[in-house]
Amino acid sequence: MSKEINTIAVLTSGGDAPGMNACIRAVVRTALAAGKTVKGIRRGYAGLLEEDIIDMDAYAVSDIIQKGGTVLYTARCKEFTTPEGQQKGAEICRKYGIDGIVVIGGDGSFQGAGKLSALGINTIGLPGTIDNDIACTDYTIGFDTAVNTAMECVDKIRDTSTSHERCSIIEVMGRGAGYIALWCGIANGAEEILTAETFDNDIEAIVERIKTMRARGKKHYIILNAESVGHSDEMAKVIQAETGMETRATVLGHIQRGGSPTARDRVYASEFGAKAVDLLLQGKTNRVIGYRNGEFVDYDIAEALKMTKSLDPWMLDLNKRLGR
Ligand code: ADP
Ligand code: F6P
Repeated sequence: MSKEINTIAVLTSGGDAPGMNACIRAVVRTALAAGKTVKGIRRGYAGLLEEDIIDMDAYAVSDIIQKGGTVLYTARCKEFTTPEGQQKGAEICRKYGIDGIVVIGGDGSFQGAGKLSALGINTIGLPGTIDNDIACTDYTIGFDTAVNTAMECVDKIRDTSTSHERCSIIEVMGRGAGYIALWCGIANGAEEILTAETFDNDIEAIVERIKTMRARGKKHYIILNAESVGHSDEMAKVIQAETGMETRATVLGHIQRGGSPTARDRVYASEFGAKAVDLLLQGKTNRVIGYRNGEFVDYDIAEALKMTKSLDPWMLDLNKRLGR
């Protein structure tokens, strides 16, 4: 029988995402309600190795559900990718009496959680990233807020783009994944969505479509560009030179990572946090929780990391039909 869980810790790792605070709050309050002791590990695995560990009571997470970022801070930690670093991390957990850890982050953070689990520390991973690029889940904490933030920015750019009858290229985040670009593209009625997964680098085809649509009377041309596709500034120069339509590029950048989480991010983050504690209390370890086809599910970490997912071809095609 697995050892009884008395102390649960929570950490955030990798890029921050709106909703992480709601998730931390849920972990802390669910564990406290079950009569457990809770600790916060600050600055992800880096903080674990530096023993930056604090006690968390119900008050420690009051007034944070509405806040972006993460009150536990986050970091990327090279040392923890080594077997020595992982061994040290597990020993520190034992020193602080930590029986289980909830890791909120992305695939890299789950790899770390898997290593800790193999060393006898119970771990549960929760998907937290604006990129929505975690294969075992349809939804990641922070994605909804990031899309809404980017959508509002694109709306504003569209106002000025239309007034000046310009083409606007707007670069959104997502690392190698085009989920933010795809969702904003549809939400903003963009004429083009360029993602690393689907763009064939055929700028000439875009130039031709712009010329055709200009001739039809279109006053603006919005191109949503996922950050991994290529240089938006360079693309703008080529498009302007070849179409004669003034073209501007805007890189939205880290504005997409901040801000107060949407209701969706707060609610799902709260559910994820509570479910992670429930799993730990059931004696489960080495699991990642996802939300798929309308329900919460959990997978072995290695199994989750092997999964793949791709942009919905129907949504991509939809945009071609609606945006042009
Ligand atoms: P994300 O969790 O968003 O994918 P990273 O890839 O930066 O972000 O990973 C976050 C942290 O997780 C890393 O800085 C590192 O400390 C830890 N990590 C990543 N990969 C591994 C690995 N293979 N083994 C152990 N820890 C890892
Ligand atoms: O993973 C979240 C993310 O914002 C990606 O979309 C982006 O590529 C990356 O992190 C930026 O990382 P940093 O904040 O280290 O510049």
